[in-house]
Parts: sequence; structure tokens; C-alpha cells
Amino acid sequence: MKTPPIFFVLIVFILSSCTHTSEQDLIDTTPITEIVTYRDNVKNIIDTNCISCHTNPPVNGAPMSLLTYENVKDAIENRGLIARISSDDLGFVMPFGGPKLPQNLIDIIIQWQEDGLLEE
Ligand code: HEC
Repeated sequence: MKTPPIFFVLIVFILSSCTHTSEQDLIDTTPITEIVTYRDNVKNIIDTNCISCHTNPPVNGAPMSLLTYENVKDAIENRGLIARISSDDLGFVMPFGGPKLPQNLIDIIIQWQEDGLLEE
């Protein structure tokens, strides 16, 4: 029995749309390739999500400020900042009481630590 040509057309179409879709997915989840620095990437995340309490002086019961590079670096090295933002425990996670930061922002902070906690 002869296979109708339309069958091949369909296969090619399906294969090419699959390829296209997975390429797109890869682009969307490409890990950060540039070096993460405090000034370019981290400060903005902290300013937007943390300094409503971790200002100077800190308010709402927060124990320290996160206003400066030194503050944030110290919180990563000595106060478990990454564990706090990565936690799924609403009694532990920062921002205080949740919700958790979006994963891409958490990943930037983790990447910052891996890149050596550079200021700029
Ligand atoms: C609504 C106020 C509030 C916000 C917003 C907030 N925090 Fe906190 N944070 C607190 C309070 C209160 C504590 C102390 C109680 C505790 O440890 O759970 C704390 C504690 C911490 C600690 C532990 C300090 C220590 O020495 O044990 C870290 C680290 C921290 N916060 C980081 C962050 C980061 C990073 C953000 C932003 C992503 C953030 N916080 C946002 C209120 C806040």
C-alpha cells in the first residue's frame, strides 16, 4: 500500500513545530550568563522586596539593615539570607510572612554568591 504524500507533509510539519517549541523553551530558561553584581542586579531586588523592614534603622522587628552592599553581603555570609529567601516555610521565608520571591530573582541572588558577591 502506498502512503499518501500528505502523511509526509504532516510529519515534517509536526517535527518542525516541535523543534521550534523546544528552542523557544530553552531561550526562556537560559541561565544568566553575565556575572551578577550587587549594583547591576541585586540592589534592585533587595530595595523592592526587603527594605520596607530592613531599612536603617530597621523596622517591624527586622534585626538588621539591608540598605548597603556591606549589609547584604554580611547577611548572606553570616545570617543565612539565601536559606531565608529559598525556604517554603511561611514561618521562616523572607520577605517576612511570604510570599516567596519569584524563582528567577532567588536564582539571581544565588548566582551572585556563586560569582563571588561582587559589588560592581
Ligand atoms: C515585613 C517585614 C520584612 C520584610 C519585607 C523582610 N523581612 Fe527579613 N526579617 C524581618 C523580621 C521581623 C526578621 C526577624 C524574625 C525572623 O528572623 O524571622 C527578619 C529576619 C531576616 C533575616 C535573618 C536575620 C538573622 O540574623 O537571623 C534575614 C537574612 C532576612 N530577614 C532577609 C530578608 C530579605 C532578603 C528580605 C527581602 C527578600 C526580607 N528579609 C524582607 C522582617 C522582614
